[in-house]
Amino acid sequence: MHTKTLLVAALIVGSCGVITAEAVPLMCKAVWVIGASCEDVSTALVNQIKSWTGIDGCATGGEKCLYELVSVNQTHIFAKHTNPTDKSVDNLTFILKRHRESPACRTVGISVSAADGKTRDSGTNYCNLWNLVEGSGLTSISLFKEITNDWMCNERSTAKCDIV
Ligand SMILES: *[C@@H]1O[C@H](CO)[C@@H](O)[C@H](O)[C@H]1NC(C)=O
Ligand SMILES: *[C@@H]1O[C@H](CO)[C@@H](O)[C@H](O)[C@H]1NC(C)=O
Repeated sequence: MHTKTLLVAALIVGSCGVITAEAVPLMCKAVWVIGASCEDVSTALVNQIKSWTGIDGCATGGEKCLYELVSVNQTHIFAKHTNPTDKSVDNLTFILKRHRESPACRTVGISVSAADGKTRDSGTNYCNLWNLVEGSGLTSISLFKEITNDWMCNERSTAKCDIV
C-alpha cells in the first residue's frame, strides 16, 4: 500500500513536470530611462493605448491596434494586447519609478504571452511594448535609454515591430 502511494505520488509529480515544461510563457521585460516625469510618461502611454483600442491601426498590417487599458494608478499601468491575426491576448504591465534624483522616469515594461507551447514569438512581446513607447513619442525625448536584450525579450534583436 505504501509502495502504491509512492507510485501515485511519483505519477503526479511526473505529470506536473511535463505540464510545467510545456507551459512556459514567452515574455519580454525591457527598461527605458526617459527624461520626463513619470506622470507625463504614464499619460503618454495611457493615451496611446486608448488611441489604439480599435482595429483601424492595423488596416495596413502590423499590430498597432487592439490594445485595451485594464487599470492605471500612479505607478502601474495594466493593459492587454490582442493579436489581430490569431486573436491571442498578451498581458502588459508598465511600472514607473522616478530615476534616482534626476528628472527622469525609469519605465519597466513587461509583456507576457499565454503559455501555449511556443518557444519563439518573433519579438511580439517586445513590440507590444515598444510600439506604445515609440508611438506615444517618448523615444524622441532627448534622454532616452533602453535596457534589454534577447534573453529579457524573446527575439528582440530580430523583431520588426512595424510588421509583427
Ligand atoms: C498601484 O497598483 C499596484 C499593483 O496593483 C500596487 O502594488 C500599488 O500599491 C498601487 N499604487 C497606488 C498608489 O495605489
Ligand atoms: C492575463 O491576465 C488575466 C487576468 O489576470 C489572466 O487570466 C490571463 O491568464 C493572463 N494571460 C497571460 C497571457 O498571462
